[in-house]
Amino acid sequence: MIGERYTEVRALPEKAGDEVTVSGWVETLRVHAKVAFVVVRDGTGLVQCVLPAGEVDADTWELGTTLEQESAVEVTGQVKPDARAPGGHELVLRRLEVVGASSDYPIQPKEHGVDFLMDHRHLWIRSARQRAVLRVRSELTQAIHDYFHREGFVRIDTPILTGSIGESAGTLFSTEYFGETAYLAQTGQLYVEAACPAFRKVYCFGPTFRAEKSKTRRHLTEFWMVEPEVAFADSEDNMALQEDFVSYLVERALERCSDELEALERDTTPLEGVRPPFPRLSYGEAVARLQEGGSSIEWGDDLGGGDETELAGMYDLPLFVHDYPKEAKAFYMKENPEDPRTVLCNDLLAPEGYGEIIGGSQREDDLERLRARIRAEGLPEDAYEWYLDLRRYGTFPHSGFGLGVERTLAWITGRPHVRELIPFPRLMNRLDP
Ligand code: 4AD
Ligand code: MG
Repeated sequence: MIGERYTEVRALPEKAGDEVTVSGWVETLRVHAKVAFVVVRDGTGLVQCVLPAGEVDADTWELGTTLEQESAVEVTGQVKPDARAPGGHELVLRRLEVVGASSDYPIQPKEHGVDFLMDHRHLWIRSARQRAVLRVRSELTQAIHDYFHREGFVRIDTPILTGSIGESAGTLFSTEYFGETAYLAQTGQLYVEAACPAFRKVYCFGPTFRAEKSKTRRHLTEFWMVEPEVAFADSEDNMALQEDFVSYLVERALERCSDELEALERDTTPLEGVRPPFPRLSYGEAVARLQEGGSSIEWGDDLGGGDETELAGMYDLPLFVHDYPKEAKAFYMKENPEDPRTVLCNDLLAPEGYGEIIGGSQREDDLERLRARIRAEGLPEDAYEWYLDLRRYGTFPHSGFGLGVERTLAWITGRPHVRELIPFPRLMNRLDP
């Protein structure tokens, strides 16, 4: 094991009676006449340390009673069961050493404004709620890999610097690249499509970039997306995979993150019912529903955030809206043979107003139709010759989707804004820290 010099706080229940050394950071200090209590956080848990005035030397008492919030310390003492202490144990200290002092820690145990907290994000992530959220994130990203590994998918790491536009020209970050223009990937999709004939079922998982000029609670400029792609799968198969996958993720969070969800005061009742099948509405049905509710939306308009919230609010489960008008969606989606005004695609809308968490589609597998769409969108055809090759050499029906990690986490953890669901959020007005 790493760092055997130190006992991890999470291992203390097995160490009752032993003398152990713990290292970590001071969360709080309470000093009374004859005893002081120091709560130390070591990253695996919190432990209350008891400093009895009569049993330690004067220097240790002086040091222990003047500790400041977030000082890094090393403490040695005996593990004593105590039902009132966090974790059910306390540490009766014999020795205390300050490894790194801290003074005037900017984040105090009181309410701070969100701009202040975001400016101090590098410190804010130590706080209880942020720790809970980031631990759920870590569990969720692990669950994503476990699911696709279990299902026999091969992971393909797709490039971040690209020459072809993955989604649309409107939200690109570009950079000079030895005399050419490179874009930061909006998606890994085109590349996982290329890997399909090699492995049939593939996925990529990484950061994606969109120069979104919107300051909503659902938009980041850098977000993480997992994108599976399956050969010989149609749009129906694609939705079946999505509902199975999303149900797995929710179940996994409920199973392994119950402490965190409780700390976040997430009412888990709505999550407990999440299992296939999810309800489905075609885009046309969705528009009709909205019109019945008094909306002025017309067939052909894209659904706005408000429309999505209204539709999702009609169900307790995530809602599929499928087969949108061609004009509202990306160039690579397959024309719907039953209604060529639409494409074979779907969004998945989370319940409780958390918005779109997945966008997916069957891909246009016809060379000439795909070329026509690239032209119609005004995209540079040259940059797509390699992508068109996939339709020249053994084209095949295939489908896939992208699930946004931060939006999925917002829903699961019940946090309203995606900025808290990634360690260091990138927003239109935020590049630091
Ligand atoms: O619907 P999108 O744009 O789909 C794609 O990128 C496809 N290439 C996926 C595929 O078929 N392989 O994005 C997919 C998901 C959205 O549903 C949303 O959850 C998330 O990515 N997303 C964002 N999350 C945070 N901030 C943003 N600016 C986001 N844009 C999309
Ligand atoms: Mg989308």
